[in-house]
Amino acid sequence: MIRPFEKPIYVTRPFLPPLEEFCQGLEEIWETGWLTNNGPILQRFTDELCNYFETDNICLFNNGTLALQIGLQGMGISGEVITTPFTFVATTHALFWNKIRPVFVDIEPDYYTLDPEKVEAAITPWTTAILAVHVYGYPCNLNALADIARRHNLRLIYDSAHAFGVEVGAKSIAHFGDLSMFSFHATKSYHSIEGGLLIFKESGLKGTFDYLKNFGFKNELEVVMPGTNAKMNEMQALMGIQVLKYLDDIIEKRSRITDLYRQRLKKIPGIRLAPPLSPHVKYNHVYFPIEVDEDEFGMSRDQLYEKLKEFNVFSRRYFYPLLCDYACYRSISIKDPLTVARRAADRILTLPIYDGLELSDVETICEIMMSLQMGKDSSLHRRRIGLEPEYFKANTR
Ligand SMILES: Cc1ncc(COP(=O)(O)O)c(C=O)c1O
Repeated sequence: MIRPFEKPIYVTRPFLPPLEEFCQGLEEIWETGWLTNNGPILQRFTDELCNYFETDNICLFNNGTLALQIGLQGMGISGEVITTPFTFVATTHALFWNKIRPVFVDIEPDYYTLDPEKVEAAITPWTTAILAVHVYGYPCNLNALADIARRHNLRLIYDSAHAFGVEVGAKSIAHFGDLSMFSFHATKSYHSIEGGLLIFKESGLKGTFDYLKNFGFKNELEVVMPGTNAKMNEMQALMGIQVLKYLDDIIEKRSRITDLYRQRLKKIPGIRLAPPLSPHVKYNHVYFPIEVDEDEFGMSRDQLYEKLKEFNVFSRRYFYPLLCDYACYRSISIKDPLTVARRAADRILTLPIYDGLELSDVETICEIMMSLQMGKDSSLHRRRIGLEPEYFKANTR
């Protein structure tokens, strides 16, 4: 009999640097009295990220949603943009705020990223860009999307909210496409409490993004465009600098969790794991998604989600429902049946993963899932397979 965890295990917990280190940084803020508006810590953070990504074409924001919104606006994207319904709502919201029509197409079954064939089939004279998502930090089909964008003269934009730290062929994922947006939200493997980053090919865009995130101010007296307020503040920049120092450790710890989950879960009937990533990909282990096959596992994804809660394990159904099923997007006409995306939304559960999660706790989560699959702990399963409680009592240990 496996007992529930004493304390809840959530899908994630933010990494926090040692308190003394953060307090030292705070002393600097108290000395300068500079809290926001391109302060010295933000400038230092910007320099560190320029070194990290080996480019000057970067711009920091107070969150990823506004970064993406401003990225699209600054690049002048309009008309129709082909995108995925299998993502967090902010991807489509960023299009909506720019009055761009999202054209949803299906995803690939292995890594849940946009299916290039479906993208190509959806291009119309109004298409201006592709907005793809490296969902769960899994790289999109980079070559195929780049090829389509080049042949059809489209801009290629990546929502890389999940993909900080991911590399393909020893090159940061930021360097694919015309523009990439990273989210530094506290739920990500790398964070600055809240925050967003744009990395882009055309250096000319930097000035536009800087105006747009600061009300359009060019100087004290001139406003050159109707910008908004999307500036990162000094506390966020401080957290960003401090967490960056630990990034390799964080990813290493998360990778051990991934390995253990994979080892244990591959043996459970009805649990499908994404195929191992190509050796050319350095992954950031930001999420651990699994697919639940109801028939083989003996209970549905939603039943498993609820059952895990009884053991004090709080997984998440990222990304369910599909974005196009939210009330605000339901009226958009969609030609693609979105078969793969619908199946993924109905079957995927993301399991707890964070650097402070003990491997022994991962073992226990896997044992719980194993026992649920075997029906030892599951009244739901017993009901599904038609066993009466009396029969079950008499025939189990
Ligand atoms: C795929 C995706 N895009 C965009 C965002 C928005 O980022 P933020 O929360 O930093 O605004 C998120 C946030 O989790 C996300 O998961």
